[in-house]
Amino acid sequence: MSRVYNFSAGPSMLPEPVLKKAAEEMLDYKGSGMSVMEMSHRSKVYMSIHENAEALLRKLMNIPDNYSVLFLQGGASQQFAMVPMNLMKNKKIDFIHTGQWTKKAIDEAKVVATVNIVASSEDKNFSYIPEDYQFSPDADYVHICLNNTIEGTVYAQIPDTGSIPLVVDMSSNIMSQEIDVTKFGLIFAGAQKNLGPAGVTVVIIRNDLIGKHSEDTPVIFRYGTHDKEKSLYNTPPCYSIYVAGLVFEWIDQLGGVKAIEAMNREKANLLYDFVDESKLFSSPVDKRYRSLMNIPFVSPSDDLDKKFIAEAEKEGLITLAGHRSVGGMRASIYNAMPLEGVKKLVDFMKKFEMENK
Ligand SMILES: Cc1ncc(COP(=O)(O)O)c(C=O)c1O
Repeated sequence: MSRVYNFSAGPSMLPEPVLKKAAEEMLDYKGSGMSVMEMSHRSKVYMSIHENAEALLRKLMNIPDNYSVLFLQGGASQQFAMVPMNLMKNKKIDFIHTGQWTKKAIDEAKVVATVNIVASSEDKNFSYIPEDYQFSPDADYVHICLNNTIEGTVYAQIPDTGSIPLVVDMSSNIMSQEIDVTKFGLIFAGAQKNLGPAGVTVVIIRNDLIGKHSEDTPVIFRYGTHDKEKSLYNTPPCYSIYVAGLVFEWIDQLGGVKAIEAMNREKANLLYDFVDESKLFSSPVDKRYRSLMNIPFVSPSDDLDKKFIAEAEKEGLITLAGHRSVGGMRASIYNAMPLEGVKKLVDFMKKFEMENK
């Protein structure tokens, strides 16, 4: 068996111990005589998986009791639509526009509300996070994307929105570093980068924001529906929740989010330090806002980029092409990417640079 180092932006690598445990438990989960994929979501055995995943998520992220945790479907993209439907009063939403994922969220919000872009980094190709903004006093909420997966930027500081709820798309950096949940009214994230397989979307919502949906919101799209039924209103993505639970156990055993953050910083520094000293590769991102998770870099030409990506693949360093809209390279180094993977990438970059001076 030969496993590659997969630098995909998502779905992405899962921790090897998690995959092994899932494989061991595949045919007969803890004496139940069946796999988690086959059991009723109302069964006792599944309920304990479901409750365990929520308890560990709460523990790892230090989620206070006045927040609900929901396991939903439809991806982070569905949240772009659900958040405005559920949090609307004045039908006014403030956005800080930092890239392609806020663009999609803006387009979705515009279907039902008036969108006010209070700041944007589009002037410099989204290579930084704007810090100069004023929020509308009557905004229903402010939407930000904390870590911009495609552009490789992250907020250096969480905006202070006062009494206006702050909604955050944390899809590409949830559980990668310590954050204070109480700074946010609502956090959402698709699982397929840091938490587990695709199929489950985590929503962490402050309880006072539940039940504020507009009248025409379908029942299935109301946070209140899922909160009341503990994410079992309808069949949840059971297997994805189970694997996410295994990922949470893995993080817990490593020492929690604090320990993972230290590892993530070490990995990212290794790569950034080399890119900064390299004469061939460079980073398009303002140093103050560099992501720990998604690291774009470029060589001087498209042809050299293509050569790099093709040769890296032969070394088992795969999915290093930048997003189709920006080109170049991008290494996504989520929680499950081992330090050895980043070391191997940096060694390969050094060798490539020597050979292509
Ligand atoms: C920051 C961010 N938001 C939203 C999405 C969309 O997620 P999904 O495909 O789960 O709808 C992604 C996917 O890559 C993302 O990186």
